[in-house]
Amino acid sequence: MKTQVAIIGGGPAGMLLSEILHRAGIDSVVLEAKSRAYVLSRIRAGVLEQGTVDVLRENGLGERMDRDGHAHDGAAIVWAGRDRYFIDAWKYVGKRFMTYGQTNIQEDLYAAADRRQARLINEAENVLPHGLTSQSPWVTFRHNGVDERLDCDFIAGCDGFHGVSRKSIPAAILKEFEKVYPFGWLGVLSETPPLNELIYCNHPRGFALASQRNPMLSRYYVQVPLDARVEDWSDDRFWTELKARYPREIADAIVTGPSIEKSIAPLRSFVAEPMRHGRLFLAGDAAHIVPPTGAKGLNLAVSDVFYLARALKAFYAGGSERLLDGYSDMALRRVWSSVRFSWWMTNLLHRFPGTTEFEQRAQEGELAYLASSRHASASVAEQYAGLPFEEA
Ligand code: APR
Ligand code: PHB
Repeated sequence: MKTQVAIIGGGPAGMLLSEILHRAGIDSVVLEAKSRAYVLSRIRAGVLEQGTVDVLRENGLGERMDRDGHAHDGAAIVWAGRDRYFIDAWKYVGKRFMTYGQTNIQEDLYAAADRRQARLINEAENVLPHGLTSQSPWVTFRHNGVDERLDCDFIAGCDGFHGVSRKSIPAAILKEFEKVYPFGWLGVLSETPPLNELIYCNHPRGFALASQRNPMLSRYYVQVPLDARVEDWSDDRFWTELKARYPREIADAIVTGPSIEKSIAPLRSFVAEPMRHGRLFLAGDAAHIVPPTGAKGLNLAVSDVFYLARALKAFYAGGSERLLDGYSDMALRRVWSSVRFSWWMTNLLHRFPGTTEFEQRAQEGELAYLASSRHASASVAEQYAGLPFEEA
């Protein structure tokens, strides 16, 4: 088999890259380890920055999002004993958000791929990139019991945190930065009407978040200890804990119901540098992970793909490698700004085990400062909304 760009991983990063390249007349093949049903059923985050919304719209992926997504101006923060604070992205930076689940985006991407009869190979086993520092790399894999070889000009490593792409960069070249947090998020999806805005909560019992997917689908989270087990969290226990963390009026407004999904995710910050080795380019979770506080994960995957697609388009249009050469540095600037912001927001909103009274007062002081300062508010709003993409 032969293509221009071999894409490893059919998550949002890989599928969006394939779509954008196709629209520019560049051929690609996507190799995805899991089945289509598995990929389409994964429940992930759901807050899209304006920049992400724009990229999806520009690439013909905005129709259902614009119909079913919920546009909002920012998000609220509540914490014990204080009034509600609103991160007002619309007021300070003129940008809005869209709540629209990653699960839906993944469906839209697969539907678009089907319409153009894309070469998308699910259940590709033993995917391995080769010849990365040559002009003609290739990828080997096994499909339906047959060993295959895919020759290409470039390989895009969009295979998530546990993928094979990052691991194929020599250890002497790759530098990894990591921070793990001493708690996880227990998330519940329920077919109940959500609150009409996103509300982050800092409470002595721990962090909580109220989010949404659509008018009859809510997403809620509570901070839990690292050793928490889903089996120990009945729906009743979850709703009781969630409501105990929110102020009375908000708790009373939360509509409870049976959960249709419940899972615990650890929180981690991780960055791998550089995001390029020879003809291999990393994008999305393959290169970086952020804690979900701030909802940056999917948005970063989209900005990486935007930069990478632009660089590949420039290369195929005229042979210039300038943008490809600048890809890693440019992508990492945006990555680090979101990594820093989501780390900061995680620190601001969670209760850390073993926190001293000094640290607790400092956290409260920071929240109070945020609420009282329009300069601080503008700064947070600008970062929450997402920095603009850099010019080519
Ligand atoms: N070969 C082929 N495919 C692989 C391999 C492999 N060795 N390893 C992993 N994959 C696939 C996974 O099955 C998955 O479908 O790569 C895909 C990676 O998708 P994601 O993990 O969703 O990562 P990405 O596309 O970068 O999207 C980032 O996902 O995790 C969230 O919060 C994150 O919202 C962000 C988004
Ligand atoms: C979600 O809706 O799943 C969500 C929203 C905001 C976050 C994280 C997750 O910061």
